[in-house]
Amino acid sequence: MSAAKILVLGGTRFVGRAVVASALARGHQVTLFNRGLTNPNLFPDTEVVTGDRTVSLEPLGGRHFDAVVDVAGYDPAVVELSVKALAATVDRYVYVSTLSVYADHDTAAGQREGARLLDPRPDTGPEDRYGANKAACEAVVTTAYGNGALIARPGLIAGPHDPTDRFAYWPRRVAAGGTILAPGDPADPVQYIDVRDLAGWCVEGCGQPWRGAYNIVAPPLPMADFMVACQAVTGVGAKLVWASGDWLHAHGVDPWMGVPLWVGAPGWSAANQVDASQAVGHTGLVARSTEATIADIWEWDTARGGPAPGQEGLTAQGEAALLAQLES
Ligand SMILES: NC(=O)c1ccc[n+]([C@@H]2O[C@H](COP(=O)([O-])OP(=O)(O)OC[C@H]3O[C@@H](n4cnc5c(N)ncnc54)[C@H](OP(=O)(O)O)[C@@H]3O)[C@@H](O)[C@H]2O)c1
Repeated sequence: MSAAKILVLGGTRFVGRAVVASALARGHQVTLFNRGLTNPNLFPDTEVVTGDRTVSLEPLGGRHFDAVVDVAGYDPAVVELSVKALAATVDRYVYVSTLSVYADHDTAAGQREGARLLDPRPDTGPEDRYGANKAACEAVVTTAYGNGALIARPGLIAGPHDPTDRFAYWPRRVAAGGTILAPGDPADPVQYIDVRDLAGWCVEGCGQPWRGAYNIVAPPLPMADFMVACQAVTGVGAKLVWASGDWLHAHGVDPWMGVPLWVGAPGWSAANQVDASQAVGHTGLVARSTEATIADIWEWDTARGGPAPGQEGLTAQGEAALLAQLES
């Protein structure tokens, strides 16, 4: 794609940051629209239009762009405001959604692109509400843009600047050595997408005739292989003690955030078995190696000195307490 004018709604936290970096690296002319609160001056040579998307996109003044990447739209009413403001002057709308839009996470089939999505319902739990809202956002974009809409449905996103500690926890923990609590069964699948692969796909999609929704995930790998990759990158051998999913449940471990990368929530048994063959076959999605992702995250995490207190995926004390129960 030749140099294009790309508007990024957001762009300064995690996924958007990678989208902006990818677009700039490809020579595109990028404009960010955000409130100027999160990491201001992150891209000092890049235009930032300041505004609150929940209020109005008026500060953009109806300018023309070749494409918009809407990175962090969560509320359909807010996305509707953006779509209405941009439809007349921007031809292509790339929306970052999520695999959480699917109604069924217990089967791989339930998470294929054509599968049933969640309906927005007031009685849904927080996780479903997130997914239902994202599904409603997708519908807003698709209704307004038709073939000009491109929707990325990533699974867990890993990479430098991840505000969660779900992935960075592991190379840091393996590098620290000692006895390590490993969640689930060694054969359990782990699945994610490197934020830079997702970002590159979104930027590439700005100039391609791709349309509709695509699952954006790397192929799953067994948790045991992930641990081996962490050991290979860090150069530290690990003594792993596996705690089965049943054991973790029985000991009250939170099925989402209790142990990083362990998904033990009921109804999510196939969360890490998502098929991305549409994105691979139709759009050439390429996922970098697990080792490359681990190495870059470890480097970033080490440079920042690990997460702030209270942000750890699992604290040393929490892990020690679980190990003590497991080994007693
Ligand atoms: N993390 C995962 O594993 C995962 C998995 C699947 C899908 N996703 C999706 O990935 C996306 C993650 O987004 P991100 O936070 O990394 O995006 P980001 O674009 O890097 O950061 C969020 C941006 O939104 C801006 N913003 C926030 N409120 C705003 C407002 N009212 N008006 C204008 N700008 C506003 C922030 O800047 P200011 O604060 O300065 O305004 C910031 O630049 C989400 O769509 C999420 O659903 C994440």
